[in-house]
Amino acid sequence: MHSIQVHDKSFTSFLSHEEILTQVEKIAHQINTDYSGRCPLFIAILNGSFMFGSDLFKSLSIEAEICFIKLASYKGIKSTGQVTTSIGLDVSLKDRDVILIEDIVDTGKTLHEFLPQLFDQNPSSIRIASLLHKPDALLYPIKVDYLGFEVPNKFLVGYGLDYDGLGRNLKDIYQLKITE
Ligand code: IMP
Ligand code: MG
Repeated sequence: MHSIQVHDKSFTSFLSHEEILTQVEKIAHQINTDYSGRCPLFIAILNGSFMFGSDLFKSLSIEAEICFIKLASYKGIKSTGQVTTSIGLDVSLKDRDVILIEDIVDTGKTLHEFLPQLFDQNPSSIRIASLLHKPDALLYPIKVDYLGFEVPNKFLVGYGLDYDGLGRNLKDIYQLKITE
């Protein structure tokens, strides 16, 4: 099995780029069908979702818009429980069909804290697209409408996901190796 090192930790291969792209295409196909004739507004949550967001957006054939916000809750390999916004929304959501793009839904806290701000703007609808979801880590009632993969509760890097800033550029997704 392919192993890599990021900072002080070892990771082993978990999902290949091909497996990821196959799922991204499936999600895009579903969204093309569900939003046919509408023009959804995608909101990609930076930093982690930039790669998934880009591949997903490229695979759409319907009319769609995209914008970006920056939220963060992770430091190192643990959730801090605090969600901070460092780049906010600059478009109106009123009467829009909104699709949030996340790299991974872990505890669900990021979306749980952020969703009320979006509903305040009276969008027509809000759905969530996430490449990954760790159901065993979920602490808040978040439902992922478009999901790539359900994954075990282990720390992952690659394809946009980082460990303290590194690993985002990896094409595949890797899982933390438990040595002891
Ligand atoms: P939540 O608020 O606990 O759902 O965390 C969501 C955010 O934490 C994600 O958007 C990621 O940026 C980050 N995150 C959660 N799990 C991982 C992981 O395994 N690797 C890297 N980042 C993660
Ligand atoms: Mg994120």
